[in-house]
Amino acid sequence: MGDGGIMTASESTVALLAELAARGTDEENWYTLPPKAYCSEEIFELEVDRVFRRGWMNAGHVSQIPEAGDFRTVDMFGELLVVSRGRDGEINVMSRVCPHRWMDICQGQQAGNVPSLQCPYHRWTFSHDGELRAAPEMEETPGFDKQDFGLHHFRHEVWEGFIWVNLDGQAPSTADLWGPMSEQLQEYGLADWSIVSSTAWGESAWDWKVFIDNGECYHHIGIHDDTLEPVMPARRAVDLPDNGEYTLLYANGHDDVLVPADDGEVDFFSDDPPVAGLNPQQRRGLGLAYPLPNYVIALMPQYAVWFEVYPLGPGRIDLTTHIMLPSDLVDAPGNEERIAGHVASANEIHKQDIVVCEGVQRGLEAASARPGMLCHLEGHNRAFAKWYARQISTA
Ligand code: FES
Ligand SMILES: [Fe+2]
Repeated sequence: MGDGGIMTASESTVALLAELAARGTDEENWYTLPPKAYCSEEIFELEVDRVFRRGWMNAGHVSQIPEAGDFRTVDMFGELLVVSRGRDGEINVMSRVCPHRWMDICQGQQAGNVPSLQCPYHRWTFSHDGELRAAPEMEETPGFDKQDFGLHHFRHEVWEGFIWVNLDGQAPSTADLWGPMSEQLQEYGLADWSIVSSTAWGESAWDWKVFIDNGECYHHIGIHDDTLEPVMPARRAVDLPDNGEYTLLYANGHDDVLVPADDGEVDFFSDDPPVAGLNPQQRRGLGLAYPLPNYVIALMPQYAVWFEVYPLGPGRIDLTTHIMLPSDLVDAPGNEERIAGHVASANEIHKQDIVVCEGVQRGLEAASARPGMLCHLEGHNRAFAKWYARQISTA
């Protein structure tokens, strides 16, 4: 409570979120999150504690570190992480802060393959599982024991081929949270997909929640009216059941673009056949999967677009988009042209989304901005708002 018993802006935002968390997603009159939740430093600090450090943050994909000795650096919420694969093939997620005197042991390197991780400052050398192997001159230092100075490990899990880190170490397992979604997505076999092309968009001027909000298909009717709407009309989108820890929706293809396939099912608009084994829903629609909080993969019948998002602060994210294919299709004949086509269409759509995400963030920062009312085609937003409100209002 602020001075004189008056609520500060962030306290009143948290109070509003507590009310929202108590509502059923099937109730009527669903409003958006309060605008201040998208642009306040204080709320972002709460998010770091209650959403990001407590939950599972996406820290990459296994295909980014395929070989023993591969590593990749990831920064999140002040933690400097190295995601690496040891000689035994095991993945480790560790701090890059040197246990000697805090140097970033991978300073200036974003990825690579090295026999060991070596700090450039005084050459302390660590194995890929974080053990200190060499520390020049330290054998002359009384009381020093190498075993006490390994790299700090963070808890991680691999779910559907993606690497997830839980900074506070207390989260329920990814299988507990997202197991039902794994079943709904099992036909894709995502654990065996690979990245075939990446586009770094860099710092983007909107909040991570604006990005998640933009995951509905209602906006096909507007900003995508010349791209997605003729193919996947907004009104055909459906939300699949969820357990409150994720959302999953499909933008279904228009009749005009659904082509009968040999087996009587339908192929989605493309000259290429869909990935083998997909069910009819997966073959006729674009799946959008959101294990919460801030991950999204868009599953076309023939390929996927993974959005790698790192929140930097209120109203700021770092964004990279990746085109993914089932690993056994990575070297298929004609892929160069095919993948270039996927990149071009994903980028065209994203450029439309940039316009609205930037515009929404500017609108959210207006003092007069108020909560808006959600459409029946925004079930994803309702579920996300409720999930977020629950996290923030749980001390
Ligand atoms: S700070 Fe890393 S070896 Fe000294
Ligand atoms: Fe969009």
